[in-house]
Amino acid sequence: MTLPPNHSASHRFPAGGRAFPHRDLIAIGALERHEILYLLAEAEQYVEFNRQAAKHSDRLAGLTIINAFFENSTRTLLSFEIAGKRLGADVINMHAAQSSVKKGETLIDTAMTLNAMRADAIVIRHGSSGAVGLIASKVDCPVLNAGDGQHEHPTQALLDALALRHKLRELGHQAEDFTGLTVTICGDVLHSRVARSNMLCLQAMGATVRVCAPPSLMPAEVERVGVEVFHDFDAALHGADVVMMLRLQNERMDGQFIPSPREYRHLYGLSPERLALARPEAIVMHPGPMNRGVEIDSTVADLPGRSIITSQVEMGVAMRMACLDVLTRKARGVPGWGVAKGEWV
Ligand code: CP
Repeated sequence: MTLPPNHSASHRFPAGGRAFPHRDLIAIGALERHEILYLLAEAEQYVEFNRQAAKHSDRLAGLTIINAFFENSTRTLLSFEIAGKRLGADVINMHAAQSSVKKGETLIDTAMTLNAMRADAIVIRHGSSGAVGLIASKVDCPVLNAGDGQHEHPTQALLDALALRHKLRELGHQAEDFTGLTVTICGDVLHSRVARSNMLCLQAMGATVRVCAPPSLMPAEVERVGVEVFHDFDAALHGADVVMMLRLQNERMDGQFIPSPREYRHLYGLSPERLALARPEAIVMHPGPMNRGVEIDSTVADLPGRSIITSQVEMGVAMRMACLDVLTRKARGVPGWGVAKGEWV
């Protein structure tokens, strides 16, 4: 399979325009529903492409992509690296622990340094909410948020939507969105950028979203984003079509948020018995990394036909290829690249 050219007659554009109207991908909250659907549609070609033995394209040949990670990562960093390389770009990884950040260089000076190297896209993970948006305001190229503090992890929500849609199609559902679906997100909602991005993305796609956590791990006034709030996991599972589990983000906790991991597992862990409370075909998701035996039992995490956790990882590469493709169209002179500072191109 070769990729169709970006400018081919079959190339689709977001509804209502000939361009993707964003230079950066910082937050799901900045995207319209049709833009989310557009990115999902663009990612589909890469799902098929990645399943071939030979999977190399020159689509981004000559471009330089910098992955600047100020926090640890396995899935996001590797999938962005693989995505860029499969598209033919030169991909450079900057690990903060080995960079001049350790000598006291500020975030803005680091951003200006990356900008001076004329990157064509910068992918950033940072521990502070808003840091990625700040960097985007200082550089001249597209910036992709690979997770910023407790704010957002937009490509995670997009890949989760792609994985969920693939599973639903396998089960015979043909709808392009999630209308009629009930998704229960359970775990450390307070510290989770994945939960925030997914609450927004799943609702934009038409799903009813429930969030469940102990009161100490639930953000104040979370119901204002339109979700249903539960503290009783059993109740939150009744009628759920999808159960998305989140890990306890101990690295973001500055105090004791749960009595003990053992008690947390008893009340909020997903065991086979608990999963039986959801709908019979309920789909199990987890963004990873998992704490097996705490928020999810291995028998559930690895449950054939129900768990799509490895599919989420697979879809991560395809979705990140789509995001890099769409956001670098200006650099490649491809129509439909988007708009910066209010001027359409
Ligand atoms: N889901 C996720 O962001 O995983 P990593 O921290 O391994 O990138």
